[in-house]
Order: sequence, then C-alpha cells, then structure tokens
Amino acid sequence: MENFIEQIDKRRTFAIISHPDAGKTTLTEKLLLYGGAIQQAGIVKGKKGARAAVSDWMEIEKQRGISVTSSVLQFRYNGYCVNILDTPGHQDFSEDTYRTLMAADSAVMVIDAAKGVENQTKKLFKVCTMRGIPIFTFINKMDRDAQNPFDLLEEIEQVLGIETYPMNWPIGSGKEFKGVYDRNKKEILAFQHSGKVGQQQAEKIEAQLGDPGLDELLTKPLHDTLSEDIELLDGAAYEFNLDKVRHGMLTPVFFGSALTNFGVEPFLKEFLRLAPTPRAYTDTLTSEPVDPCRDDFSGFVFKIQANMDKNHRDRIAFVRICSGKFERGMDAFHVQGNRKLKLATGTSMMADDRAIVDEAYAGDIVGLFDPGIFSIGDTVCSGKRHVQYPQIPTFAPEMFARITQVDTLKRKQFVKGMEELAQEGAIQIFRELGAGMESVIVGVVGVLQFEVLERRLKAEYRVEVRRQPLPY
Ligand code: G4P
Repeated sequence: MENFIEQIDKRRTFAIISHPDAGKTTLTEKLLLYGGAIQQAGIVKGKKGARAAVSDWMEIEKQRGISVTSSVLQFRYNGYCVNILDTPGHQDFSEDTYRTLMAADSAVMVIDAAKGVENQTKKLFKVCTMRGIPIFTFINKMDRDAQNPFDLLEEIEQVLGIETYPMNWPIGSGKEFKGVYDRNKKEILAFQHSGKVGQQQAEKIEAQLGDPGLDELLTKPLHDTLSEDIELLDGAAYEFNLDKVRHGMLTPVFFGSALTNFGVEPFLKEFLRLAPTPRAYTDTLTSEPVDPCRDDFSGFVFKIQANMDKNHRDRIAFVRICSGKFERGMDAFHVQGNRKLKLATGTSMMADDRAIVDEAYAGDIVGLFDPGIFSIGDTVCSGKRHVQYPQIPTFAPEMFARITQVDTLKRKQFVKGMEELAQEGAIQIFRELGAGMESVIVGVVGVLQFEVLERRLKAEYRVEVRRQPLPY
C-alpha cells in the first residue's frame, strides 16, 4: 500500500493550451491512449458524428466540433497519476479557461509547426506566466511542411518572452520528415510514413552524428543539416535548467506529430519526469502556503456545471484538491456557506459513465454533487483549522444583451435557468431596475456564450428566449 505522501507525489495535474486547430484534442487523445484510458483513437472529440465524445458533453460542441466546456480526464501511466484539465480552445470561452488554469500545476502548450505562435496561444500563455506555472511546449504537425525550427524557437522567445530548450530536434518536415534526434540520449527516433496512422511504433536508432551510415537513413543533406543544427544548439547560450522550468522562465520544447502518434510517448515520459507535483496554494486566512501533504483535506471550486448529462439532472462542482485526502462521504466544511456538509458524491469524468470516486488526493479534481450551494472560488475543508483559498478573478464582460423570455407562462423555469447558469459562471446577470425577471441584461466575454445560453435554456429548462444585443 502506498502511503499518503507517495500518492500525492505521483500526481501530475496540467492543462493543455493552444490556439484552435493546433492539435490539442488530438494530443489529448493520444495521451489518453497511452494511459489505456481509451481503447481507440478518435473518441475524444465526437467530431462529424463519428463517435460519442469523451471530453465534450454538450450538443453544441458536437455540432460545431469544438470543445466548449472544460473537462477533467484522469489516467495512470508509468506509476504516475495524470490529471488532464481540458480547456476549451475557442476564444470566446477564455474565462472558463482562465479558471481551469487556476487548478493546474503546469501547462502543455501545443503549437502548430507551420503557424507558430498564434493569438489564442499568446493570451493563454499570459495567464500561465501570471501564475508562474511551468510550461512545456509540443511543436505539432511535423509531418506537414513546417517553419524552420530555429525560427519557431526564436518566435516563442520573442513573442512570449520565455527561454526555450529543445529536448529533441526535428530532422526535416512534411514529406521529408525523418524523425527527431533526442539530444539527451543521442538517438534518433525514426518516423515511418507508411503504416496505419497513429499506430506504428517508432524505431529508435542510436546515432553517432557524422557516421556515414546515417546518410542512408536520413539522406546526406538532412544528416548534414542535423549535425550542424545540433552543434549550434549545443554551443548555444541556453542550458537546461530545471529551476527555471519550475518557475516558468524556460520551456522545454519537443517536436512531434500527434496525428501519427510520433514523438508523443517520449514527450509524455519526459514531461512526467520534469513536471511538478501538486503545488501549495496560499491560505488567505493565514497568508501561509498550505502543504499538499498535510493531513486534512481542503480544496476550492473552480468550475460548476449543470446538467452535463441528460440522464443525471444535477450540478457538479469541480473541486481542485489542495491538501490531504478526499473520501467519499466525509464530513467537511463549506467556508463561504459557513456550514458543515457531507461530501456525498464524488464523480470523476471519464467516457460516458461517471465513475464514483471513493478517494482522491491533493492534485486531483473531484466533481462534487452540488445541490446549489457552491459558487466559483469557494473553499471546502475538513479539520479543525479552516483554510480559505483566494477568490478566482472574474473577467469584465465585453458584450451585453437583453434576454427576454418568449412564453411568459414559463417565468419560473426562466428564472431558475438564468440563476443556475449565472451561478455556474456561464454568464453574468445585470438586472434592470423595475423590469422584473421577464427580461434580463446579460453580460458575456464572448458571443458564443450567448448561443450556449440560448440552447441550454431551451434544452434543459424548456424556455425560449429572444436576444437583443445592447451597445454598451
Ligand atoms: P484542436 O483541438 O487544437 O482544435 O485541434 P485538433 O486536435 O482538433 O486538430 C485540428 C486538425 O489538425 C485536425 O484535422 C487534426 O486531425 C489535425 N492534426 C492534429 N495533429 C496533427 C498532426 O500531427 N499532423 C497533421 N497532419 N494533422 C494534425 P481536421 O481535418 O480538422 O479534423 P479531423 O477530421 O482529422 O478530426
């Protein structure tokens, strides 16, 4: 039986950030595949109606093929317990993403090798640096024509302001892509173009750069380029420095191709080795960091979601555990509500069914059944000494609309729907004086939130509404 501290030590909780289409979903899916969490690639995103979604729940996501809500996926790999916090890629949902990043200990930044650093990447990166969390970079789509790897690194350094350290180095790209050179192990991981996509095992070849034998494998020009590149890199100013990585000042960079599975497993292994264990969050009551390994349980709500599944009409409050151990049925204290409660239902989100979680540790995320008492940022804890974690900042809405119910007989459902969705943090409500509740002014960060609001009111509360955009 592993002890408590060993359990916490094995936790790696991170979020994947990227600009839409860079390959976040594909990479997530491949990571899950290695963890044995899913049996077959292609089920993370129920795109084009192919399969049921794992990390997407809502109709709108399926229809649009984008991930709107964040979800949490857990799997074990090589003795580690890995928690991936899936963040919505769509720019309209930045607020939800920001909250999710509050619950992560590190981030994986996926960059499209042809496009480099894109807009959404910049925004998300900024939030990560604000929190000072380590950032690992996966430069994806090397099987397609890519920018020069030196240019890509320079762009990351110039635009994002972080030092880079390439852990491996690509040999060619697109049709010419031969694989990557592992700088530490000094071996080549050879890419095979043939074979079924996503399933082939990459061949590892010990490589003495300059050895004429490599000309045959790589072609002479690519072998020459590789030798020159590695010489340049080895002579470059930046050295690998784990301390800098831990403080978000240097990002280890990996090249690969998620679609073909190439470079994903070596990345996962290195990432897990270098990524931090659950961090200590600050208790605002004492201004002291809370040791994740301390005995008593504590955590904060970073996300609330209602009606995720038509078969379970309920609300789930996602809690990031900051210290101790969660046990189903345990007694706890809800700090903001100033009352005791039993943490009756913990669920972990995986595939279609919701596995009941019996125990979980600092670093994990549990979905608590929420009868409507929690708000985002709330703290739950056990033990005599109460703790309180900092509030999660809310973002100023950028768009407003008047939402009016069409059928005034459904006032009760309308009020309930609006209130619950606001509590979830899906929208912000600004009530108009004297206007009652038939019509409400709603503020959002992005326009897609309005669409989600309308669809959810219709699907979950059976209420039709009209939306009138407002100019403020
Ligand atoms: P996202 O979650 O970041 O938005 O990106 P996603 O994984 O959905 O990938 C976007 C598109 O890029 C997908 O193609 C996906 O198959 C492709 N892709 C991801 N990784 C790689 C890679 O390493 N190499 C290549 N060549 N393509 C990659 P799509 O046609 O938009 O969707 P689909 O029909 O394949 O699902």
